[in-house]
Amino acid sequence: MESSLEKIINAKLEKCFKSLGMDTRFAVIKVSDRPDLSDFQCNGALALAKSQHKNPREIAEQIVNELQKDEDFSKISVDGPGFINLTINNALIAGVLQNMQRDERFGCDKVPSPRNVVLDYGAPNVAKEMHVGHLRSAVIGESVKRIEKFVGNKVIADTHLGDWGTPMGMVISEIQAEHPDWPYFDDNKIDGFPKTLPYSVEDLTELYKKANARCKENDDERQKARIITAKLQDGHKGFRALWQHLRDISVAAVKKNFDLLDVHFDLWLGESDAHAACYDILKIAEEKGVSEKDDGAVIIRLDEANKPKPPVMLQKSDGGFAYQITDLATIKMRVDDLKADEIIYFTDKRQALHFEQVFEASEKLEIAPNVKLLHIGFGTVNGPDGKPFKTRDGGVMKLEDLISMSKDKVRESMPDAKDVEGFSSLAEAQKYIDELVDEIAVAAMKFQDLKNNIASGYAFDFEDFAKFEGKTGPYIQYAIARINSIMRKTEASGIACGKITISNKEERDLALKIAQLNSIIWRTHLEKEPSIISDYAYTLAQAFSSFYNASSIMNAETKELAQSRLCLAQLTRDILKLLLHLLGIKAPEIMLKK
Ligand code: ARG
Repeated sequence: MESSLEKIINAKLEKCFKSLGMDTRFAVIKVSDRPDLSDFQCNGALALAKSQHKNPREIAEQIVNELQKDEDFSKISVDGPGFINLTINNALIAGVLQNMQRDERFGCDKVPSPRNVVLDYGAPNVAKEMHVGHLRSAVIGESVKRIEKFVGNKVIADTHLGDWGTPMGMVISEIQAEHPDWPYFDDNKIDGFPKTLPYSVEDLTELYKKANARCKENDDERQKARIITAKLQDGHKGFRALWQHLRDISVAAVKKNFDLLDVHFDLWLGESDAHAACYDILKIAEEKGVSEKDDGAVIIRLDEANKPKPPVMLQKSDGGFAYQITDLATIKMRVDDLKADEIIYFTDKRQALHFEQVFEASEKLEIAPNVKLLHIGFGTVNGPDGKPFKTRDGGVMKLEDLISMSKDKVRESMPDAKDVEGFSSLAEAQKYIDELVDEIAVAAMKFQDLKNNIASGYAFDFEDFAKFEGKTGPYIQYAIARINSIMRKTEASGIACGKITISNKEERDLALKIAQLNSIIWRTHLEKEPSIISDYAYTLAQAFSSFYNASSIMNAETKELAQSRLCLAQLTRDILKLLLHLLGIKAPEIMLKK
């Protein structure tokens, strides 16, 4: 089993604490807050002193005296009130890196026993175009999926389409108003409906907008849409046939967007797939005595001891099922059919209350015993004015438009195909450039999103997000392509990867940075916070840049040094590629710019 640098040092500390009869829970290090003084620090003496009412410096001295016997530490000191500062011997660092290099997982730990993790993200709605909010859900969800998979969990990604609520009835009612002669509205007709519907997803969005305006103005219209929704859910043949068209048109459009974003799902289920299980939920709720009738509707009241919470709506008075019961039914299906150990939802944080209600109801219903339910709520994507991102005319920014605007921006920095060397034809060069534009644009969009804490919103920055310098996706892609080019050159001059040794400060800084990989990935996994990875990728790329400026490979003093540096370069590249992959970003072999 490979072991990370931090684990090796923690084990040494643990042994030391044990031999001194100290509580080993405090035998942990962290990366030093003062890299000028040390590589790592242990603040355990302070905690120990508190519990034993002793002087922390004395305890720290005791630990340091013991650790000093270990040659893997080149410098140990007690500083301030009792911090233990540790500097590691180069040989130990080099040895750890050598092991990382030999392992395809770079020595990263795996979960001891894999859990089934269901991830619910993307979650677009039928008949509504995807907007920037869906971008965040898709981007964050996809990244967390890849991280969970990397640490060894079994992941199932489900996009959970919004396809069963009143908006369906609204759109159907709108279509009926425009085409009353279409066969879908004849209650007696049960088959032989047209195979296709002459609408695009844009048409559906228009229909929805019109329907929405009409329902807002007029109670009767709203009531009509509700009745159609209830009938649709109840199996009305014509409505079901029409609804199937709406769903198919929307899914095709959504798939196109997700493909562009390199976001992939194992399941394309939706709220409608939980319909049958909604009856199970009603039954369980009644049997357990947790539901009650309220004005014709069926609800579950929640505990309001700490804060007021609206009840969970199971069934509306017209018999229709809405968002909350479909989510409860979906939990039941994910537990029963997918054997979920964990279900993670990614939506705008404005839905936090909905999930709080659903999770609490699920507990009352006992449909997911021992299953961890987690809602990850993110902040909004804002425009330059700090308000939720809108188009110039004040409409909702469509995801598709955002993607194409990003591509246009990236295209500005691309060279002309005729100026690019190394391709067999102009067409080949153009093809490469086009692919590159897609990959860079997606990298720029995703990295800009994932470099922020999930909970905070961010302003979509069209000026800097695709730059090749600064904390951007393209910067990391560039760093990788640069190492690719270095490796092509070194290979051509016959230099091969060799034993890692550390000969100067920049090599050492880079090596220590690389050695953090395992703890970075584990923190990201535990905190479900991909920004930890983006930060790390950025600082790793910077450390590489300083290293490469100071330490030539081609002109290294000795062959061994050249081989060692090449090895560091290769390891950096492979890790950067892994990090981008975990963020859902591709790493092109060659980058081009004007
Ligand atoms: N379709 C919803 C929306 O666009 C998000 C659904 C999230 N997932 C869930 N299981 N409720 O807001």
